[in-house]
Parts: sequence; structure tokens; C-alpha cells
Amino acid sequence: MNYISVAIDGPSGAGKSTMAKRLAAELGYVYVDTGAMYRAVGLYIMRKGINLEDKETIIRELPGIIVTIGYENGTQHVYLNEEDVSGLIRTEEVGKYASSCSAIPEVRAHLLELQRNMGKTNNIIMDGRDIGTVVLPDATVKIFLVASLEKRAKRRYDELIAKGENVSYEETYKQMEQRDFNDMNRAVAPLKPAEDAVHADTSDLGIEESYALLKKIIMEKTKDVL
Ligand code: DC
Repeated sequence: MNYISVAIDGPSGAGKSTMAKRLAAELGYVYVDTGAMYRAVGLYIMRKGINLEDKETIIRELPGIIVTIGYENGTQHVYLNEEDVSGLIRTEEVGKYASSCSAIPEVRAHLLELQRNMGKTNNIIMDGRDIGTVVLPDATVKIFLVASLEKRAKRRYDELIAKGENVSYEETYKQMEQRDFNDMNRAVAPLKPAEDAVHADTSDLGIEESYALLKKIIMEKTKDVL
């Protein structure tokens, strides 16, 4: 049996995970958040106090970094050497480590098989940066989800403030700009749309409108498959 796979790529803060989670729940697909896997690697390197410039050491640590994914009541949990780190990886600091580690080809290769295997036994919605281009080049549906830097920074800023973090909009904007630059300019598997991806821009759309747009794209592309 062939499973349906939906790849959602795009820059940080475009709403990929919010959309993908909800779409997966409604369509009965398994949601796979690949950023969480990079974050688990970043957390390990951060805890060990390894310098992000020290690529040799990061690569040497890889055999001891076992990342796995599990589901509890339909929610994805990420395990780092069997420890559930799902709640620990959502900080800006871990995001910085994840971004640097994700530029190392050996780190990407380390996570690739796990990501590819997830689609072999389930209908999936997978989000990340290189899903449509590298991880699942034959995905049934490929969506490249974007929004302007200003809008993404504002959404992230509002989220952080709601969490009680003490940040400024300018700081959030600069960090997001830097993250975009890193993700788009790395040599291996950079953030870019697959040739056959459908572009969706949510700059001027609210959550409900964005959701409706993505659902329409998926329904349209999968109507002949089911
Ligand atoms: O989506 P996120 O912010 O949780 O991702 C964390 C970092 O991991 C981000 O800086 C880019 C990287 N990443 C990647 O390189 N490839 C993916 N498929 C997913 C995330």
C-alpha cells in the first residue's frame, strides 16, 4: 500500500507546525516535526558545552545521539537517548544550537533515515526545511509556506511575550533574519522550494484563512490518490 505524504517547508515562524498539527489531526495523518529532531541534537550539544564552531567534535558525538519519535494520544514526543525532551527543546537557545548543527552534513545524514522511515508505514504530514527537496522528493503534496519577515517576527514576538519572556520586537526580528540567512545559505539541503511545490503566502491571512488555504491545496492534490 502506498501512503500519502504531505511535505510542508518554509522559513521559521511561517506557521508550519501550527498548520501541520491541525491538518494531521483533522485528516487522520501522523504529524512529523523534523525541526524537533534537530532541536534534540542541539540540546545534546548544548548540554555537553560543545562549541558550535567545533564541527569535528559534534560529528564525533553523533553515534551517541539517538533521536527517536513516539506518539502519545496523537501528540509527537521526541526522545534523546530515551529521555523525553519534548518540553526542553522549545527555547531560543536550543533553536540556535539546532540551526548551527543542522548545517553539518553528517548531522543531516544522521537524521535522514529516521525521517524517511516515518512515511513508510503511515500517511504523514512532515514539516521542515528540506522535506520536499531532499527527505521526501516523491511526496504526494509539497507546500512551501511563507510569510513576510515582519509578520513572522511579530507573530513570534507575540508568542514569546505571551509566554512571559522579556524580549523586544527588534531583537526577535534580528534573530529571525539571522535564522533565515543560516537556513537558506547553508551548503547542504538549504531552505528552498521544491520545483513542484505549491507556494502559500500567509502574510495577510489569519489562522483560519491559512488553514483553509492549506487544506484546499491538500484536498486538490490528493483527490485522485485515495
Ligand atoms: O522548525 P524549527 O525552528 O523547530 O527548526 C529548528 C532548526 O532546525 C532550524 O534552524 C532549521 C533546522 N531544520 C532543518 O535544517 N531541516 C529541517 N528539516 C527542519 C529543521
